[in-house]
Amino acid sequence: MANKITFIGAGNMASAIIGGLIDSGVAPGDITATAPNESELSALASRLGIHTHTDNNAAVSGADVVVLAVKPQIMRGVCEALRDSVQQQAPLVVSIAAGLDADTIDQWLGGGNALVRCMPNTPSLVGMGASGLYANQAVSEAQRELATQMMEAVGIVEWVEEEHLLNAVTAVSGSAPAYFFLMFEAMEAAAVAQGLSAATARRLAIQTALGAATMAKRSDKDPATLKQNVMSPGGTTERAIAHMEEAELRTIIADAMQACAQRADAMAKELGQHT
Ligand SMILES: NC(=O)c1ccc[n+]([C@@H]2O[C@H](COP(=O)([O-])OP(=O)(O)OC[C@H]3O[C@@H](n4cnc5c(N)ncnc54)[C@H](OP(=O)(O)O)[C@@H]3O)[C@@H](O)[C@H]2O)c1
Repeated sequence: MANKITFIGAGNMASAIIGGLIDSGVAPGDITATAPNESELSALASRLGIHTHTDNNAAVSGADVVVLAVKPQIMRGVCEALRDSVQQQAPLVVSIAAGLDADTIDQWLGGGNALVRCMPNTPSLVGMGASGLYANQAVSEAQRELATQMMEAVGIVEWVEEEHLLNAVTAVSGSAPAYFFLMFEAMEAAAVAQGLSAATARRLAIQTALGAATMAKRSDKDPATLKQNVMSPGGTTERAIAHMEEAELRTIIADAMQACAQRADAMAKELGQHT
């Protein structure tokens, strides 16, 4: 990927993606990151060997890709201040900001931009992310490939062809790490009630999730079959699963994901109007 990539914002998510890009062979000298605070940047520069800047406009000059990695609440001001540089440079713009739609960001940047909107999740911070991507009409095939390679540096990538589907991505992966953390909490508490120590219970629950996820990822069998394979008739697992089905766990999950997607939609409208 011999392209110049500039990150506007050098926080958690930008650092994770930059680290992944360097691990996957991108030359640190092809990467620039910006932030208002020089000390935060110099730590990043000495750790990763990338270029840094406190001037966003200067950092956009010469960039093939500009990644918008600031908080959604300040995105409007950041974009409007970058408008002339972005219009002049015409890079691929990739926004990782939650809840800001492509048209809104494009307008703030003066319009007509090739823009990819990305919904990453926090496991990107450990190279195990899952990102949903959407491209507007101005994005070329080569630019799509560039965005794919960039986000694959921190995990897997799935494209959606309609932007509203990023709300469903938010529900199934963006917010979903928290669903699993809740499951770990509940399993740990239940195992402690049965007499295990919290540390032992936590280690067993987390390792089991990792094992189950690895099996599901490697297997050509669907999750229903893998589940069935663990359940012998009249056995312990069957009893536990029957209890979950009776308690309508599937409905609880479906309702929670529906609420999540609706909230993503509402937040996009709020942020687009008021930031
Ligand atoms: N973290 C996640 O799991 C996650 C998941 C999905 C999406 N996202 C999205 O990723 C984006 C970044 O999130 P994050 O967690 O990485 O946030 P973060 O750690 O707070 O990073 C934001 C960065 O932007 C910098 N910044 C602030 N004002 C700036 C300006 N005017 N120009 C350039 N840089 C500026 C900050 O510098 P200072 O620290 O000096 O203020 C900081 O380096 C957000 O839009 C968020 O919605 C994050």
